[in-house]
Amino acid sequence: MHAIRITAPGGPEVLAWSEVPDPVAGEGEVLVDVAAGAVNRADVAQRQGTYPPPPGASEYPGLECSGTVAALGPGTEDSGWSVGDPVCALLSGGGYAEKVAVPVGQLLPVPEGVGLAEAAALPEVAATVWSNLVMVGGLREGETVLVHGGGSGIGTFAIQFARALGARVAVTAGSEEKLARCRELGAEITVNYRTEDFAERMREEGGADLILDIMGGSYLDANLRSLATNGRITMIALMGGRRAEADLGRMLAKRLSVHATTLRSRPLDEKAAIVAGVLEQVWPLVEQGAIRPVVDRSVPMRNAAEAHRVMESSAHTGKILLTL
Ligand SMILES: NC(=O)c1ccc[n+]([C@@H]2O[C@H](COP(=O)([O-])OP(=O)(O)OC[C@H]3O[C@@H](n4cnc5c(N)ncnc54)[C@H](OP(=O)(O)O)[C@@H]3O)[C@@H](O)[C@H]2O)c1
Repeated sequence: MHAIRITAPGGPEVLAWSEVPDPVAGEGEVLVDVAAGAVNRADVAQRQGTYPPPPGASEYPGLECSGTVAALGPGTEDSGWSVGDPVCALLSGGGYAEKVAVPVGQLLPVPEGVGLAEAAALPEVAATVWSNLVMVGGLREGETVLVHGGGSGIGTFAIQFARALGARVAVTAGSEEKLARCRELGAEITVNYRTEDFAERMREEGGADLILDIMGGSYLDANLRSLATNGRITMIALMGGRRAEADLGRMLAKRLSVHATTLRSRPLDEKAAIVAGVLEQVWPLVEQGAIRPVVDRSVPMRNAAEAHRVMESSAHTGKILLTL
């Protein structure tokens, strides 16, 4: 098969479409013929050499894909999946390839009404958003959630999901075009972080009950200021650095909590539990049309370097697909 290899840590030019050995479905795995993959920020960090794949994961990048089941590995014969089934999957690597072996607990059906290639835009954002907003963050109907980076792949999904749960959604983004798109998706409070103080705005709006944060260090103090009493932060990335100076007195006075997670490093059983939760609680919302995949563009997989350049420029809104 062909896959995108990271030939050395570096810029997008180190991504090379290469002929490589086919993967084999091991115990508890299913082999998938890939139709499309999608780009995640983590792939950029992996390419740069700062986010190596976890032990046992494929050396090729790619945290999600869609395609069809090509073979059932040992122990998956009674899993309910059959050769030829259209699927999408959460991966710990290997999605930038023509074939990938997937632990059976990380497979999802393609939701009704979603195209096969388009379905590659869903697994990583659905699993990350559902696990962080619901499992970790305890988001409830009527609460206000602040989503940083509302125009991101994660953000565009989180806006729709939180709205479908009945939450009020606030977002930050760096351009008026992205904020307009966030409003179309259901955000009610939109803040351009380049020109407005989001903590001040959130205070005027009564405070956030939950913040889905991608900035980490640089936003911690402002996030604590933005929260209402009993507010929570779920931190999923540290794009603003890993160190912070913050007034922790606010945490005591407002009874705040800060959580942090990564999906990729979770053990197989936890990933399977999250995927099962997504199937039960998120897929029906996709099938009803309350949540749609937001695809900025599709790029041929062999040109993954071009897709990485777009992601690093943050010119995109939503997901970038890699198609075969
Ligand atoms: N922990 C986990 O399990 C997990 C899983 C998936 C993703 N993530 C993380 O979630 C983040 C989003 O992922 P993605 O794949 O959706 O990436 P993405 O589409 O590239 O999104 C990154 C976004 O951040 C925005 N941004 C940059 N500086 C900002 C600032 N100061 N304030 C607010 N927004 C800012 C960018 O747009 P503008 O600046 O133009 O607004 C861009 O939309 C990434 O950091 C990724 O690593 C974590």
